[in-house]
Amino acid sequence: KGLRVQDKGFLNTAVMQSRITYIDGDAGILRYRGYPIEQLAEQSSHLESAYLLIYGALPTRDQFKHFESEVLRHGVMHADAQEFFRSFRQAYDAHPMSMLTSAFAMLGSYYSEANPSLQGQRLYTRGDKTSLETMDRQIYRLIGKATTLAAMAYRVRQGREFVTPPTGLSYAASFLYQMDHLSEENYVPNPVLEKALDVLFLIHADHELNASCTTVLQTGSSLVDPYSAVAAGCASLYGPLHGGANEAVIRMLISIGKPENVPAFIEAVKRREKTLSGFGHRVYKTSDPRSFIVRKTAAEVFRVTGKDELLETAMALHDAAMKDEYFIKRRLAPNVDFWYADGLIYRAMGFPLDFFPVLFVVPRVVGWLAHWRQMMLQEGGVKIWRPRQIYIGEGVRGYIPIDERN
Ligand code: CMC
Repeated sequence: KGLRVQDKGFLNTAVMQSRITYIDGDAGILRYRGYPIEQLAEQSSHLESAYLLIYGALPTRDQFKHFESEVLRHGVMHADAQEFFRSFRQAYDAHPMSMLTSAFAMLGSYYSEANPSLQGQRLYTRGDKTSLETMDRQIYRLIGKATTLAAMAYRVRQGREFVTPPTGLSYAASFLYQMDHLSEENYVPNPVLEKALDVLFLIHADHELNASCTTVLQTGSSLVDPYSAVAAGCASLYGPLHGGANEAVIRMLISIGKPENVPAFIEAVKRREKTLSGFGHRVYKTSDPRSFIVRKTAAEVFRVTGKDELLETAMALHDAAMKDEYFIKRRLAPNVDFWYADGLIYRAMGFPLDFFPVLFVVPRVVGWLAHWRQMMLQEGGVKIWRPRQIYIGEGVRGYIPIDERN
């Protein structure tokens, strides 16, 4: 009663205080725990930045060694999971995101300690060593197994055997190994591609309260286990307005084909018959700072793989949109998913199109867990997220038996 303000799409609703990621969308600034994304992309690694995002400070050498070895050690998946993956309907070309979403939820059934409600109490408590160790273990498991489950979703569609995570490789290299290892001895992924993937992972690791992170927190606010909360986040990220955009961009570029078809496509967007995927952002109204890092990474990858044939079409589309009044007026700029976009890099590296959102989920698990941990340990405990609505339906009505309705 008395609610008057509707904030459709949460344009102006802050649901929590956070110390994790700072974004200034007008100035094009992104910082993890105060460190500019450009510095981290240049000097850090995905797992080091993951530690920073989750625990709030850059790790010492010993802390990093421990974190890295725990994450990689927890990459190993129980053999039963192989049956789980084989049960998907490969004949219908099961989408890897459907498999991955289900697989995260499945993890909860492997680790029943996960569900706080089973304990009859709140599981995580500041200063309580045992509960914090449980939380850490869940974090290691989810980050470690993200690459393993993703690789399983990839290989099962090809009818290939699953690969146990190797030892002695970096997080990105271990992932490439599990994806494409063809059983040769001493397989070492191309170092340029390994580095590129690590940088892409790092810049996708967090982006504060985007749709999927919000979903993880909303779900987690009921005190459900983190595996279920991450599965919910994965489902949210699958949508084409969010993580599905990198796949949508490439499909759009393929449908446009040659640069000369760009003007007709732009006109169709303006008539609202098409969406220019990879343009626009809720927060960035100028350039997305990550797009510059992606551009640099793309140049390095293309030196190894050769240029993608869609690059020219992408550039023509970019240039046409940037000088068109429709896009200027609405402050629509290319986001991280556009041209020198991660999508073109992933394509050049040989990943299938529908696998692109998976390559977004794998690193984003880190951000989801950083926010989830912050929420679980916040001063005063967790408050369940329960928004209000403004009811605009019928007033009270009397039930009419089915034979008397017309
Ligand atoms: N193409 C054409 N028109 C657009 C686009 C676009 N890509 N994006 C926004 N608009 C128009 C929209 O129709 C609206 O026009 P009007 O005011 O005349 O009705 C105006 O611009 C404002 O857009 P909005 O939809 O109110 O903005 P939003 O903040 O609610 O949505 C967005 C943000 C990212 C969902 C949207 O820009 C979009 O759909 N972009 C394409 C999908 C995409 O690239 N998503 C990836 C986002 S970045 C990575 C990630 O988060 O996963």
